Amino acid sequence: MAWLLMILCFLCGNVFLLSLAASDDFLQCLSAAIPSDLVYQQSSSSFTSVLQSSVQNPKYITNTTVRPLCIVAASDVSHVQAAVRCGRASGVRLRIRSGGHDYEGLSYRSVQPEVFAVLDLSRIRGVNVRPGDATAWVDAGATLGELYYAIGTVNPGFAFPGGACSTVGISGFLSGGGIGLTMRKYGIGADNVIDARIVNVDGNLIDSVAAADQDLFWAIRGGGGESFGVVVAWRLRLSRVEPTVTVVNVERSLDQGAAALVAKWETLILNPFVPDLTIRVVVQERHALFQTLFLGRCSRLLRTMRAYFPELGMAPADCREMTWLNAMAFISLGSADAPAKAMLNRTNNLGNYVKNKSDYVRRAIGQAGWQSIFQDHLSRYGPGLMIMEPHGGVVGGVPDFVTPYPHRQGVLYNIQYVVFWWGEANGTAAAEATGWLGGLYGFMGQFVSSNPREAFANYRDLEIGENEVGGDGLTTYESGRVWGEKYFMGNFQRLATVKGRVDPGDYFRNEQSIPPLRQG
Ligand SMILES: Cc1cc2nc3c(=O)[nH]c(=O)nc-3n(C[C@H](O)[C@H](O)[C@H](O)COP(=O)(O)OP(=O)(O)OC[C@H]3O[C@@H](n4cnc5c(N)ncnc54)[C@H](O)[C@@H]3O)c2cc1C
Ligand SMILES: *[C@@H]1O[C@H](CO)[C@@H](O)[C@H](O)[C@H]1NC(C)=O
Ligand SMILES: *[C@@H]1O[C@H](CO)[C@@H](O)[C@H](O)[C@H]1NC(C)=O
Ligand SMILES: *[C@@H]1O[C@H](CO)[C@@H](O)[C@H](O)[C@H]1NC(C)=O
Ligand SMILES: *[C@@H]1O[C@H](CO)[C@@H](O)[C@H](O)[C@H]1NC(C)=O
Repeated sequence: MAWLLMILCFLCGNVFLLSLAASDDFLQCLSAAIPSDLVYQQSSSSFTSVLQSSVQNPKYITNTTVRPLCIVAASDVSHVQAAVRCGRASGVRLRIRSGGHDYEGLSYRSVQPEVFAVLDLSRIRGVNVRPGDATAWVDAGATLGELYYAIGTVNPGFAFPGGACSTVGISGFLSGGGIGLTMRKYGIGADNVIDARIVNVDGNLIDSVAAADQDLFWAIRGGGGESFGVVVAWRLRLSRVEPTVTVVNVERSLDQGAAALVAKWETLILNPFVPDLTIRVVVQERHALFQTLFLGRCSRLLRTMRAYFPELGMAPADCREMTWLNAMAFISLGSADAPAKAMLNRTNNLGNYVKNKSDYVRRAIGQAGWQSIFQDHLSRYGPGLMIMEPHGGVVGGVPDFVTPYPHRQGVLYNIQYVVFWWGEANGTAAAEATGWLGGLYGFMGQFVSSNPREAFANYRDLEIGENEVGGDGLTTYESGRVWGEKYFMGNFQRLATVKGRVDPGDYFRNEQSIPPLRQG
């Protein structure tokens, strides 16, 4: 009996010692390859500030978050290779972080206790615009703002279809497909990636993924971050844009017919086909804001609006004409006076606590539906809103399997539900906010896509499912399908097959990474 106990104790002690040994091996291995001032251990006085440097949601910096063993602030691709090799050799996983905007914080925290390190790429962030062939190489750690600024200052006739917020990282953005206000004309971000450099699970650098592995190249353009290796640079095709574009914000209240206006807007997305025009709609309380970006001058915008959407009553005085670069700054920073250079500011704003969810709408909801969404939900809770991004145009014209982003043909728009509150310590506020969100999400079920109820990978939501690890130590395909088919629909199986080939041991993993499917 004592003998048995001794063996048992020896075993548990061993597991503990193993993870300690793994940590030691990992740190030792790193120290041979990476300057020590780029590796922040928990004991470092800068650990917390480096960890929090790009965190967007204060929910994940509380003391209940599982913290990394260390942060590797790579400043060179060789550091990325060393981190992967050391991590694999010692059994320490990496959370890859570029812009740090992951909605569930998965680029710097783990939900389950585990020993892991953050591989932070924010110091690898050059942008090299090549006007000759209208392309750019952008390093993985650059933000959308840094990319926009580099493109727009080299040539104001160039653009890239990115998102609305300048601090978002290019790598997370493209890894989920990347939607934005010019995708109706240029396609989603991932449609405009023409090559990439990636560090694979063996720590080898693949200089041209497009040339080396077409299936992997397909997977990284929208199949979710973390799963397939560390992307260190993307090659982009730039778009041509008119020297002057027009930005217009029009707000209407329920009393001014907001419900009818939103219902009319829904019918205009697929028909007529005006890809120069994008109207993003934000609804909150008793208001609808019609955020318009038109890739042309005000006079042509107003003619288009008079023909198709006269009810909105857009007027010449509403128009602001500017370059595409300044339009991105205006939309991102919320002020027409904001200089484009302000988009280089990476400082994060750890403001409110937030929870978001997403849906896709394929059938117009109609005026009665919008009336009840306003009356029974939005008008009853101030800190909750819905942001609707119209699809159609070029994004909807590409077949669903061309990239992993499947929400294309027949999709009218994406809905992002947002609810925020102040103070985690105030459990009442958190419960009230998330309770309201749950009620609205339940109510919306009748209007949105089903089987599966689609969701957007870039608006990560762990409530739709999390990976489970099977007896063989790998995440299971069956657990991945639960959330994966909502994000990727018919493309999920192909993603799992690519994963099974490039990372069969499932080293690159998080709570929603693609599980490896082995070819039978
Ligand atoms: C304010 C705000 C506005 C947004 N607006 C838009 C929008 O308009 N359109 C849109 O599509 N999305 C938008 N998003 C969502 C955004 O695209 C995603 O949150 C995206 O994942 C953020 O990328 P990141 O590099 O900042 O995040 P990170 O947290 O660094 O990474 C996100 C995921 O990608 C992985 N990853 C990061 N870098 C790499 C890499 N180099 N190689 C492999 N995997 C990597 C991470 O491990 C993590 O799983 C917005 C988010 C916020 C917070
Ligand atoms: C976390 O912080 C809260 C409030 O500061 C404290 O009450 C709690 O004990 C802490 N928990 C842990 C695990 O440290
Ligand atoms: C939710 O969406 C809002 C608006 O796009 C964004 O500001 C916020 O950062 C998002 N939530 C999270 C958890 O990041
Ligand atoms: C950068 O952004 C942060 C957070 O939004 C803000 O507090 C700060 O003033 C900005 N810095 C500059 C120089 O604009
Ligand atoms: C906690 O949140 C609730 C709901 O928002 C609010 O009524 C209450 O005043 C808050 N309490 C504190 C101490 O902030």
